[in-house]
Amino acid sequence: MSFFAKKNILNSVVRLLCLVAFGMSGVSPFLRAENIPDLYLHDSESLNGEWKSIIDPYDSGFYDYRYSERDLGKNPSRAETFYLDVKPADVGERVEYDFDTSPPLNVPGDWNTQRPELFYYEGSVWYRLTFPEPSLAAGERMFLRFGAANYRADVYLNGQKLGFHTGGFTPFCFEITRQIHAGTNSLVVRVNNQRSKEGVPTLNTDWWNYGGLTREVRLVRTPAKFIADHRLWLESENSKIISGSVQIAGATAGESVELTIGELNQRLTVKTDSRGKASFNFATTNLQLWTPEHPKLYDVSFVFGPDKITEPVGFRTIRTKAKQLFLNGQPIFLRGICIHEEFPLNGGGRVNNVNKAKQLLLWAKELGCNFVRLAHYPHNEEMTRLADQLGIMVWSEVPVYWTIDWSNTNTYQNAEQQLTDEIRRDANRASIIIWSLANETPVSEARTKFLAQLATKARELDGTRLLSAAMERHAKPGAENVNVVQDPLAQFVDVVAFNEYIGWYEGLPAKCGEVRWEIPYDKPVFVSEFGGDARQGLHGDKSQRWTEEFQEDLYRQTLPMLDKIDGLVGFSPWILMDFRSPKRVLPGIQDGFNRKGLISSDGVKKKAFFVLQDYYRKRAGQ
Ligand code: GCU
Repeated sequence: MSFFAKKNILNSVVRLLCLVAFGMSGVSPFLRAENIPDLYLHDSESLNGEWKSIIDPYDSGFYDYRYSERDLGKNPSRAETFYLDVKPADVGERVEYDFDTSPPLNVPGDWNTQRPELFYYEGSVWYRLTFPEPSLAAGERMFLRFGAANYRADVYLNGQKLGFHTGGFTPFCFEITRQIHAGTNSLVVRVNNQRSKEGVPTLNTDWWNYGGLTREVRLVRTPAKFIADHRLWLESENSKIISGSVQIAGATAGESVELTIGELNQRLTVKTDSRGKASFNFATTNLQLWTPEHPKLYDVSFVFGPDKITEPVGFRTIRTKAKQLFLNGQPIFLRGICIHEEFPLNGGGRVNNVNKAKQLLLWAKELGCNFVRLAHYPHNEEMTRLADQLGIMVWSEVPVYWTIDWSNTNTYQNAEQQLTDEIRRDANRASIIIWSLANETPVSEARTKFLAQLATKARELDGTRLLSAAMERHAKPGAENVNVVQDPLAQFVDVVAFNEYIGWYEGLPAKCGEVRWEIPYDKPVFVSEFGGDARQGLHGDKSQRWTEEFQEDLYRQTLPMLDKIDGLVGFSPWILMDFRSPKRVLPGIQDGFNRKGLISSDGVKKKAFFVLQDYYRKRAGQ
């Protein structure tokens, strides 16, 4: 009996045991996807391109007519169970789907901008790709890695369930060494982007709920034991001591890993502990620190037996002291802008390649920015790696947005998992200086407890960066023009940040001139959003809302208002580009777009762009 035949029997036995366990416990018997950060740096084959797709609004491929999950059933029906990906065995057999003759969808990409019938679609879409058996050398392992899939993905290979993943903006993977078949392999993914009360994000967002396999899919090959994760950080800008760790999957105590930073003449060998982890620190001479002006990156390599990874890494420190923010020990002002992971030109949709990501960052640089707030969820890893190269500091955020289901433990677990995956993915990005825990969340005991727990987790995962969250301000009762930021969450973060829309959601731009601030924290203050809508090309008096002149005036009035804030270390206006939102329906003006961009959805700069550009030039002393 062949190796693959033996393997198939083994898999069915394992599956049967899991189903029995599920019957007894009710907890999904299927694997929750893993996140192995350094798979990104291993040799891989792309599975991007055209996949076949089935739109399944009633989830018939996932639930049977009794609404029980087909993949939990003992003998799922060949006729309706899409992930089996079968063909009729003979002319008489009933099979009610056929991927081969189903329409394509491109991967990576959202489905909404690929087919008109999917523009507003929220539900399940089945993706199928076939690929030939990849050759594996003896002992080699193979993983299937997804950059992200919005929102829930159920993944099947050759009719077997690999597992599932929830959360639309972080990477996940499955080991498939044992599931690969000789000949043609069938990979089927059910992606469902339905919003839910207990979801993260939850039911209500001011961005388009793009669904699909929105980021890259790759087959990654590794040796039996391989470099799974690594961390590097600079202890202090004075000592120039670099510390870190490396995790070898499958290793035990006393195994050697070699670390090399050629440009620094650094080569050292470290030994793993019983969990396969090795820690290290070493002093460097003539280390050039990473700064926005000089974003110096060093090629860092790890070698473990036949396995080798190399990554460009920058070294810098970021910290606060009282109301000041220090990069490499120097006070810094964050000249920022907010960005959504959307590229409205050429059909629009999610950023799904490095050129679109780069264009967004180059526009931010043209604006005079040294900082971007990537809102409101982790953007693709290309974006943060580009920010490393381009010298742009980054605020990265998990989609704990507006009214999350605070008392729901599954919701907390979900948020914590997304935070963990975000930090583990981008821990070595010099550009990222702030992890943001949330955006505009209503103060309540349950909420603050939820976010305080998330803050503890973030500090446990990464003690080298700052924490923040976009909080809210309110007018002081009885003193209309006094704006206060008073939030119990402030005690758990390093940078006190808030969104303000004075002159747009509250009053008119002239109101900015009357405002005073009360922010009772001995911490740096950052304004994480301000702005107003303007339809590019609509001109009129500055008192006329929706015109470029109104937006321009709003910026002119807001900047001096913010300059009055004691402890202000920067801001990121809302937003670089107009972006799609189902909440924005004003005909002829919004037409499905939030128009607060400084650049229109056609890529045209609005008048306010130049007001901010001028301000940032002055701030940068140019
Ligand atoms: C909010 C929110 C954004 C939203 C913006 C707006 O503050 O954080 O997601 O798009 O305001 O209303 O335009």
